Amino acid sequence: FFSGCKGKEKEHKVEEKKDAPILGEYILKFSHVVSPNTPKGKAASFFEKRLEELSEGRIDVQVYPSSQLYKDNAVLKALKLDTVQMAAPSFSKFGKIVPQLALFDLPFLFKDMAHIHRVQDGKEGQKLKDMVNAKGYIALAFWDNNFKQLSSSKKPLILPEDAKGQKFRIMSSKVLEEQFNVIGANPQMMPFSEVYSGLQQGVIDGQENTISNIYTKKFHEVQKYLTMTNHGYLGYLVVMSEEFWNSLPQDLQKAVVQAMKEATAKQREYAQELNAKQFNLIKEYAKQSGKLEIINLTKEQKDAWRRAVSKIYPDFYDSNKIGEDLIKGVLATE
Ligand code: LMR
Repeated sequence: FFSGCKGKEKEHKVEEKKDAPILGEYILKFSHVVSPNTPKGKAASFFEKRLEELSEGRIDVQVYPSSQLYKDNAVLKALKLDTVQMAAPSFSKFGKIVPQLALFDLPFLFKDMAHIHRVQDGKEGQKLKDMVNAKGYIALAFWDNNFKQLSSSKKPLILPEDAKGQKFRIMSSKVLEEQFNVIGANPQMMPFSEVYSGLQQGVIDGQENTISNIYTKKFHEVQKYLTMTNHGYLGYLVVMSEEFWNSLPQDLQKAVVQAMKEATAKQREYAQELNAKQFNLIKEYAKQSGKLEIINLTKEQKDAWRRAVSKIYPDFYDSNKIGEDLIKGVLATE
């Protein structure tokens, strides 16, 4: 679908240029659930500024952070109705549309961020985007958050058996459900916007998330232990409403593609920067308050988590779930 944006110069370009651009001719609402000061939040703002510049104000981008407009998976329905034009939900939230995206949720499947980028930029990434496009969305780009950590209040999590019987909030994901079930824990699906109060009120004992999500939503202030597991990846697929995309003239489609390309490059930088910066802030909080213990695992302890949770991979070999080819494809990607 991007092929239409390239090359074809318009015959009436000179004449068109005489007309002043119509400011706010198109309104693009971008809804997300995290804080502005996160990799996704910052990239959304960057995209807003850049697309408004490139479109000379013809596209008015309006970013709605922190679940102000839509919560979690609800945004995917809203995109279908074109009541919102853009979103960047985490992969788990595509469960009902393209469950195969849960490939990225599989714990300990990826070696590092570079490995993830090779998969996203390679044939597996394209295959997954095609699946989303086939469902009537426009898949624009993969965005990073980072690796997830585990937090809890009941008991320090050092070995997988420590999680037994504890209630953990999860996103709506079969992979994450199994990841906690396999270690005897009790997963509870919950929207992101309800996690803080869930932890505070003890409805859940723990949760998994990235440093930026933990820090900006203050989860560390309502937890006693933070274990640095880096067990799974949290990332996003940026999607646009098909109706909105089709309503744009070619030059504006081109501007969207360009702004997204630049925002995606920036996004990867923000993800690294914020993770390091906000981890330091959490460490400082732990030191000053004495209310949070940060646990670094030894290689042996980390291997015990890896062994315990990677047992779930074969349960997702079915191509209606994730697919053996995709999982093995990742393992074979250097
Ligand atoms: C979550 O629900 O924990 C995340 O998907 C939030 C986000 O978008 O980073």
